[in-house]
Amino acid sequence: MKFLIINGPNLNLLGLREPAIYGDKTYEALCRLLWDTCRDLGIDCELFQSNHEGAIVDKIQAAYGSVDGIVINPAAYTHTSVAILDALKAVAIPAVEVHISDVDAREPFRQISYAGMACLKTYKGLGFDGYVQAIRWLHAYLKGENPQ
Ligand code: DQA
Repeated sequence: MKFLIINGPNLNLLGLREPAIYGDKTYEALCRLLWDTCRDLGIDCELFQSNHEGAIVDKIQAAYGSVDGIVINPAAYTHTSVAILDALKAVAIPAVEVHISDVDAREPFRQISYAGMACLKTYKGLGFDGYVQAIRWLHAYLKGENPQ
């Protein structure tokens, strides 16, 4: 089973960026957690971070036919990008959305998610653990189990 895990703009600055909201752990620490979580489940995973909307669209398109599941934190593009929504719909690869912070408890503009409209499930406000739960859920889903 192969997963593509996408992180959008400014998530490369985790640790530095607004630690009161996003915590003090770095993007590298997140990558290690994602690798370890996937390895323990026998998932082959590719990690991708970009600050560029088109690069994220290109990556989703390129996943067609070679990736079984997508875990995506589109970051700020969550709330603006119809292009990322359309790419996820176009490839129709089962996808789960993650947000480190509880976007529902923040500014009103963060309460719409375009990408989320193409995702099976969303984890928000759980910090890095949201990614772990997303990976576990998608793994179970793709194995034909009926995860909650
Ligand atoms: C975020 C929430 C977004 O609103 C914000 O623009 C981000 C990160 C999160 O993980 O909590 O960059 O997706």
